[in-house]
Amino acid sequence: MKPTALITGASGGIGYEFAHLFAKAGYKLIVTARTEEKLEKLKQELSEHEVTIIPLDLSMPGAAEKLYHKVKDNGQTVEVLVNNAGFGLNGPFDELPLIEQQKMLQLNVNALTELTHHFLQDMKAAPLYDIPKGIINVASTAAFQPGPRMAVYYASKAYVLSLTEALVEELKGTGITITSLCPGATDTNFFKAAKAENTKLVNSTMSPKDVAKAGFLGFVKGKRVVIPGKANQSMAYAAKIIPRSIGAKLAHYVDRP
Ligand SMILES: NC(=O)c1ccc[n+]([C@@H]2O[C@H](COP(=O)([O-])OP(=O)(O)OC[C@H]3O[C@@H](n4cnc5c(N)ncnc54)[C@H](OP(=O)(O)O)[C@@H]3O)[C@@H](O)[C@H]2O)c1
Repeated sequence: MKPTALITGASGGIGYEFAHLFAKAGYKLIVTARTEEKLEKLKQELSEHEVTIIPLDLSMPGAAEKLYHKVKDNGQTVEVLVNNAGFGLNGPFDELPLIEQQKMLQLNVNALTELTHHFLQDMKAAPLYDIPKGIINVASTAAFQPGPRMAVYYASKAYVLSLTEALVEELKGTGITITSLCPGATDTNFFKAAKAENTKLVNSTMSPKDVAKAGFLGFVKGKRVVIPGKANQSMAYAAKIIPRSIGAKLAHYVDRP
């Protein structure tokens, strides 16, 4: 029997590339995002594979639970969960609408936590395949320092990294791999959605294909944290040794036009 990978935010960017990689690796797919047409298009592109689409807005309270129950009602089990859906917002914290920042937390933090909690129970009972069962949580290099002008986004990704690293330790010996993927700037719709197209963040980007590939390979190798690209790895290393106040100043510089 083929294992199944559930990928959130698969309608574009890094999640779309993850969908192609997991399909190629022989997984059945369950893909979700808000835009049904894009999910349908992905399904057509992967017509030789078994793909279930579940259009859903995961920033709505209760949506993660709804997704879990839809999967169960379909009689499907999930061996790999890729918690990829997420967005950021650029601007002064007190000027960005609170409701939008709450939605960001609901998606980047709450939905990811709830899906991790629901599907971990099932994964523990699932048989082991050649490719590991487990979870890829998409964080960011934003997880390594505070980020003025994107304060809630950086904080949400610090949460994702911390949660994932704690679970790595808790899940030792269970056969479940849990990996935090920490991309730096990646050439996707992220910057448009974050209203950050005119910031210095976009000056040096990686392709979503390379980022997803690094995440996939790192997960297969059982890596705890995957930082794609040498420049991003150096930045993450620097963030460990410089004072956080300096890290915040540097992030403030790149998060500005
Ligand atoms: N691009 C970067 O520079 C970068 C760097 C570090 C980390 N990341 C992280 O990588 C992940 C993927 O982002 P990306 O760069 O691939 O950006 P993207 O191209 O904007 O893709 C985001 C995906 O999430 C989905 N999504 C957004 N809001 C959603 C919602 N409310 N409910 C359900 N799905 C939703 C989007 O689909 P719909 O619009 O159809 O819902 C899309 O499929 C995010 O967690 C992001 O924080 C990105």
